[in-house]
Amino acid sequence: MSGGGKSRLGILLSGRGSNFEAIGRRVLSGELDCEIGVVFSNKPGAPGLARARDLGFPVAMRESAGAERTAFDAEVVRVLRQHRVDWVCLAGYMRLLSGTFVSEFPGHILNIHPSLLPAFPGLDAQYQALAHGVKVTGCTVHFVDENLDSGPILLQAAVPVLDDDTVETLSSRILIEEHRLYSEAIRWVLRGNYRLEGRRVIET
Ligand code: GRF
Repeated sequence: MSGGGKSRLGILLSGRGSNFEAIGRRVLSGELDCEIGVVFSNKPGAPGLARARDLGFPVAMRESAGAERTAFDAEVVRVLRQHRVDWVCLAGYMRLLSGTFVSEFPGHILNIHPSLLPAFPGLDAQYQALAHGVKVTGCTVHFVDENLDSGPILLQAAVPVLDDDTVETLSSRILIEEHRLYSEAIRWVLRGNYRLEGRRVIET
């Protein structure tokens, strides 16, 4: 935490931003005891950026298209530092972080993924779950390393797959859980009562 004040989150997004909004509303209501230092997007038209502005949070945008990865990530780290961010929360950020980025915030980067990892990493996790025929899927909040959807798992929530589900109906049922779970995980890491045993995140 910087300067003895509240922890400051940096939210990274590329699109809709509903997970950001769920977090942001809880920060504004005081349910989450932290500040949002900046909401950053790598896409100029991301609806999440407009939502962030409407809610009164600081925003920043750097277009990633065509940028070299190491230089781009260095610039994102610079923006996060400038806004005195302690915790980085990926919320639909459609880029793999470089090892350098990850090492700038050791143990302080979180992501949410719409499946019960390690099942169905990567894109279109809800489609993958339907196509595979699983009866239960869900969402996962995990620490981020330089590999895709692979760091130690903080929290998971299970969601049933119904016979008449489409990608849309399943995604919206999972999303309800995502909006609850991400804030719960943030509350937990801010309290700090956990330790890592290998890949396991154990409550202390
Ligand atoms: C969510 O399903 C999240 O789990 C995944 O990307 C989606 C982002 O949605 N990583 P939103 O932008 O938060 O609405």
